[in-house]
Amino acid sequence: MQADGREIRVRVRAISEPAEDVRLFELVPETGAATPYPAGSNLTVTLAAEDRTIQRCYSLIGEAPADGAWRIAVKRMNPSRGGSAAMWALAPGAVLAVTEPQSHFELAVGRPDYLLIAGGIGITPILGMAERLERLGHHPRLVYAARTRRQMAFLDRLRMLLGDRLILIVDDEGGRLDFAAEIARLDPAGETYMCGPAGMMDAMRAAWTAAGRAPTSLRFETFGSSGSRPVVPFTVEVRDHGQTVEVPADQSLLDALGDAGIELAYDCLRGECGLCAVEVTDGAAALDHRDVFLSAEQKQAGQRLCACVSRAAGRITIDTGYRPALSRASQ
Ligand code: FES
Repeated sequence: MQADGREIRVRVRAISEPAEDVRLFELVPETGAATPYPAGSNLTVTLAAEDRTIQRCYSLIGEAPADGAWRIAVKRMNPSRGGSAAMWALAPGAVLAVTEPQSHFELAVGRPDYLLIAGGIGITPILGMAERLERLGHHPRLVYAARTRRQMAFLDRLRMLLGDRLILIVDDEGGRLDFAAEIARLDPAGETYMCGPAGMMDAMRAAWTAAGRAPTSLRFETFGSSGSRPVVPFTVEVRDHGQTVEVPADQSLLDALGDAGIELAYDCLRGECGLCAVEVTDGAAALDHRDVFLSAEQKQAGQRLCACVSRAAGRITIDTGYRPALSRASQ
């Protein structure tokens, strides 16, 4: 279960599409007001997905609620792990449960320079950070990458805000993000905030390390929806429970284990906190890491897997750390 977060019922007031395959949801609490939050915060949404209930975290758009509503944006994923399909099935008027905004991706103000990097739907937390930094007079540079220009959300708002400090990198127009060059132009005491797919994070972290920058000055969040393998069903032997669990393509390992009665602790649901990590005892070669919690070395070793976002192909064996309590007779 999630570590914290009071549940609030919200009504979907409006839905719009700010980019191709992206839907923006305006959520209004049924009682009380949409509370302020630090830029980069997210809502955990409880959703009905077929015959089960799932939770997904989505970044709040902008640096504050507007017109009494929280706003989140959800990209349509195909295949979906369940969250995007359930969100895209919602219509205005729907009521759902969310947590209070929670902040796991905090912006530190007062640094001499800021670089913001967004990949695809990763623009969602970065937009609010850009707005906050701009309002405070920090004037960040924002590099926004996507496969096509049609997939880029909030472009007019960003252009108005940042002018020529908004840099668009569009794959199908031949654009390539030069991480080393972006790092080189950042003040040595500056900070980078980044949200994008795991592969982009890995490339940035490697360039950051190669440039000799302090690890604490690179802050990031991901959305755990991109891996190195296609999304396929896989089989998990859960050694300590003596169970075998099938994980369908549209379900996360964490959710599949939960449905089988095997509850793991979790928090971020985005591959960042590591709370849901399980030990892998067999099948390392089949793993598809989609988190940013484990280091490149840990991923290479294949001994741990973040169950909320990472997957596998074929069959793996895991140990969740569950140990049945000793009976009195055996103590
Ligand atoms: S719940 Fe945070 S990494 Fe899985």
